[in-house]
Amino acid sequence: MLLLILILNIYFLVTDGRVGLTSALIGSKLYIMGGADDKYVYASLLYYDFTVLFDNIGHHATPIPVYSIWGTASIGGPNRTKIFLIGGKMEDKSSDSLSNTLVYSFDTINDNWTAPEISGNQPLRRREASSTFNPDNGWIYIFGGATVKSTNFNSTKFFNDFIILDSIGLSWINFNSSIDAPSRRASHTATLISNGIIVFIGGYELVDDKTIQDVDINQILMYDTKLGKWDYQFAVGDNVDPRNGHTSVLAPDGNIITYGGCRIDDLRSKPDLVVLKVTTIPFQWFAPSIPTENAPPPLTCHVAAIIENCMVISYGNITSDFSEPIGGNSEIYLFDTNSYKWIKEYMPHSGLFFF
Ligand SMILES: *[C@@H]1O[C@H](CO)[C@@H](O)[C@H](O)[C@H]1NC(C)=O
Ligand SMILES: *[C@@H]1O[C@H](CO)[C@@H](O)[C@H](O)[C@H]1NC(C)=O
Ligand SMILES: *[C@@H]1O[C@H](CO)[C@@H](O)[C@H](O)[C@H]1NC(C)=O
Ligand SMILES: *[C@@H]1O[C@H](CO)[C@@H](O)[C@H](O)[C@H]1NC(C)=O
Ligand SMILES: *[C@@H]1O[C@H](CO)[C@@H](O)[C@H](O)[C@H]1NC(C)=O
Repeated sequence: MLLLILILNIYFLVTDGRVGLTSALIGSKLYIMGGADDKYVYASLLYYDFTVLFDNIGHHATPIPVYSIWGTASIGGPNRTKIFLIGGKMEDKSSDSLSNTLVYSFDTINDNWTAPEISGNQPLRRREASSTFNPDNGWIYIFGGATVKSTNFNSTKFFNDFIILDSIGLSWINFNSSIDAPSRRASHTATLISNGIIVFIGGYELVDDKTIQDVDINQILMYDTKLGKWDYQFAVGDNVDPRNGHTSVLAPDGNIITYGGCRIDDLRSKPDLVVLKVTTIPFQWFAPSIPTENAPPPLTCHVAAIIENCMVISYGNITSDFSEPIGGNSEIYLFDTNSYKWIKEYMPHSGLFFF
């Protein structure tokens, strides 16, 4: 039996600051794709393998067939070895025009991309939607988002429909989701918790068909994947700023850790790191006091993943208390969900990451 020791290290370097990228964790590998810096939209697919000691350089896998930003990505497929990159702005590499393909799928075993043929009614393209994989049925639940083409924010259309992609049968599941549907929103997070409920946090919403505003951070939207029903919870507890561009991960203790984001006025949302306790009713916001040692700058439009007790944060744009975000982040940061401290290295339990 191979004794596996792995150390996630703060000296991981990413190549440059980027926003609007998307990520998926498969086994021990964190895949990060697309996004843009101040100049370019990228087609790159990088991965970090956390079973390799001091593997601190992102490995380049086969690039996405299109330049991609503001999409959403989920694991999927019969063996959960595929990544589905859904929607967002996808530009043809040769023509710079918007791609006609809505979904690309990356096979992590064979290192190749396909545009899978998906039966059923193809939904409209959207950016900043959320996607959540349900391991019970292989379905990817896609919610919300905004139109891609518009350059004028005022004429952006927001979605509140709920789309399900069966990642095994490769079909769009016709689902009449406008019944009891919540407000139209984008740039929220969606996290599947242990009882089969998807918890949606934050984002911005369109109300009265004309006003774009922060979603009330205490109004927690939920979708029960077992009953197929929407519901709400009103969170109590510590004061938390509304936010979009944030990330949420499910910690091993069953609670949700939300990091970063900014408000609709583009200012930093505070506190940077907050915990939504969802294991008891009512849900409760908790703002732990966290030592600043090893902490990242405040970020928005970054990516996050959780590996055992370690939340990994990278990329994104650094937010400010006084202005719009001030510039890209190019480092990886680690947070210990047991000690609530930012750490420099993490040693996971041996062998856990074998497929
Ligand atoms: C899933 O994994 C099994 C066992 O490794 C393999 O036989 C099968 O071909 C895989 N299926 C797909 C669709 O990759
Ligand atoms: C991906 O690679 C596998 C194994 O080499 C091959 O069978 C399959 O046809 C490839 N798919 C595409 C779209 O290139
Ligand atoms: C968008 O709407 C706001 C508020 O109504 C207005 O101040 C602003 O000028 C509009 N922007 C554009 C580009 O139309
Ligand atoms: C969804 O709505 C369509 C049109 O109203 C209807 O034909 C279909 O049966 C509905 N599907 C479900 C699952 O309720
Ligand atoms: C960060 O945000 C600012 C303000 O919106 C923007 O000008 C800049 O391009 C962003 N940085 C990156 C890396 O996207």
